[in-house]
Formats: sequence, structure tokens, C-alpha cells
Amino acid sequence: MMKVIKTIKEMQRIADKLREEGKKIAVVPTMGYLHEGHTSLMKIAREHSDFVITTLFVNPTQFAPHEDFTTYPRNFDRDFRIAEEHGCDILFNPEVDEMYPHGFATSIKINNVTEKFEGEKRPGHFDGVATVVCKLFTATKAHFGVFGQKDVQQTIVIKKLVDDLNLDIKIIVAPTLRQSDGLAMSSRNVYLSVKDRTRSSILYSALTKAKDAIEKGEKRRKIINAIMHAELRTIHSIKLDYAMSADVETLDEPEEYLPGQHIVMMIACFLGKTRLIDNMLATIPSGISEHPEKFEEM
Ligand code: PAF
Repeated sequence: MMKVIKTIKEMQRIADKLREEGKKIAVVPTMGYLHEGHTSLMKIAREHSDFVITTLFVNPTQFAPHEDFTTYPRNFDRDFRIAEEHGCDILFNPEVDEMYPHGFATSIKINNVTEKFEGEKRPGHFDGVATVVCKLFTATKAHFGVFGQKDVQQTIVIKKLVDDLNLDIKIIVAPTLRQSDGLAMSSRNVYLSVKDRTRSSILYSALTKAKDAIEKGEKRRKIINAIMHAELRTIHSIKLDYAMSADVETLDEPEEYLPGQHIVMMIACFLGKTRLIDNMLATIPSGISEHPEKFEEM
């Protein structure tokens, strides 16, 4: 039977005991409204550990005042059932006051990798993420933290947090799970109207087109980005935040990528009031001729 733990002290006491027994702990941080993307993280967590903790905490500090903190989908009973069915040992579900008691005054700010893309569109978002994730790590004392590739910039930020602060935890990044038309699974997909749900597969097709071009030899960043823009523009109602590519570790944006370089293509946009993000990884192939004719400047 899965246990629900509400306090950090109790969580740490259990984690200490597990560690004394030589057990490996994995944590899956979530904001709930669990879907198959989350359960795939739980499965990976289980493969790496003896004890799986899923955290369920809608973190207010990573939402800007105009964002969807109050309306973020929540359903504790459903989340409890899903986490238990997927073999979690503990659901760590603190209240806001437990995580941020009166007088709480710390915020972790990571530079560089937080400054563009999501960081630029959502100022302060990654300070909130880094601070809460650090607290979730110290509360659960986990050996492994499992995160989804869908929030790619978040995974880069968390890896930087772990490296820079020498946190004793290994980060595992798990592949994005998709619906049959390519839409990346997300708790926010429930907001989409029927029409926008149909349109939403455009993110996947834009990413796929850019990846195809890369595989055929395109390495000019502006052209790769333009391929995504052109595809996204076919849906007139879309409001684009960004459709960009960058080095997958540093998020640097050179004019031209180097052969063998690992890059990530990222999209953030609104369909109706719903903000969707998605990304895809690609490796610039080696040994292909300079500028393939097929993808001329757009
Ligand atoms: O990816 C999320 O759901 C959140 O950003 C996280 C990592 C649980 C921190 O609140």
C-alpha cells in the first residue's frame, strides 16, 4: 500500500532509514494530474531503484501572477490511484506552507541556461523550479531524480543545479510520450478545445520537418528555425512564443551547427488559451555537402 507523506521531517526520516538499509531511492517530481508521461517516469524510476517516491506539489513560485496556478488541473484521488497502481511506494504531497513556511527567504537563481526560451517568456519560472526541485531532493534524499524530456530546458537547468551545488543525485531524463498524432502528453492538454486538440499535432509535424531537414544535411540554424515557423504558420490561430533550435547542453545558438553537434529544436505556442511546449533532439550528421538545395532561405 502506497503511503502519503505530508511533512518534510517525516519524509527525511523515512529516507534516512531506507539509506541505512542500503536501499536506492528514486524520486519523480510532478505537479500531479498524472498521465502516461508521468507513469513512464515512474517505471524508469523503479528500474533504477528499490523505492520510488512520486512528489505531488503544484509549486506556486514557478507560476507568474497571470499564469494558471489557481486553475492548474488537480485531482488528488485520481493521482493517488495512478501512482499506487504504478508501484510508487510513497506519494510525497506537502502543502504550500510546509514547503514555504512563514519567513522562507531563499531562491536559487541559475544564470545563462535560464535566460532564453522558456526563461525569457516566463521570467522567474526557473528560479521557482530550481528552488522547489532542490527542496524535493533534500526532502526525499533520493539517489536518482527522473524528469521528462518534454521540459527540455528544465532538465538542462536541473542538471546545472545538481552540478553547481554538488547535489548527490543522478538525473535521468526520460523520452517524451506522445499521443498517436504526435501531441506530447501534458497535464495541460485537458484545456484544449476539440478544434485546438486537432490543430495541436502541428508542433510535432514542425519538429519532424526540421529534423528531416537536418538529417538531409541542413545545419544553418536560421533555416532550421524557418522550417518550423513555416509549418506552424499553416495554423492561423496559433500564437507563437518561439520556435528555435540550440545546442542541447549549452543552449548556444551558432549561425551554423557543427557536424556531430547535438541540438534541440523547441517550440512554445498558444492554441486558444492553452500554452503548449514541445521539443525534439537531433544530431547534425557528419560528411554531408555544404548547403542542400532543397532547403533554400525562406
Ligand atoms: O515539471 C514539473 O512538473 C515541475 O516543473 C516540477 C519539476 C515538478 C517542479 O515543480
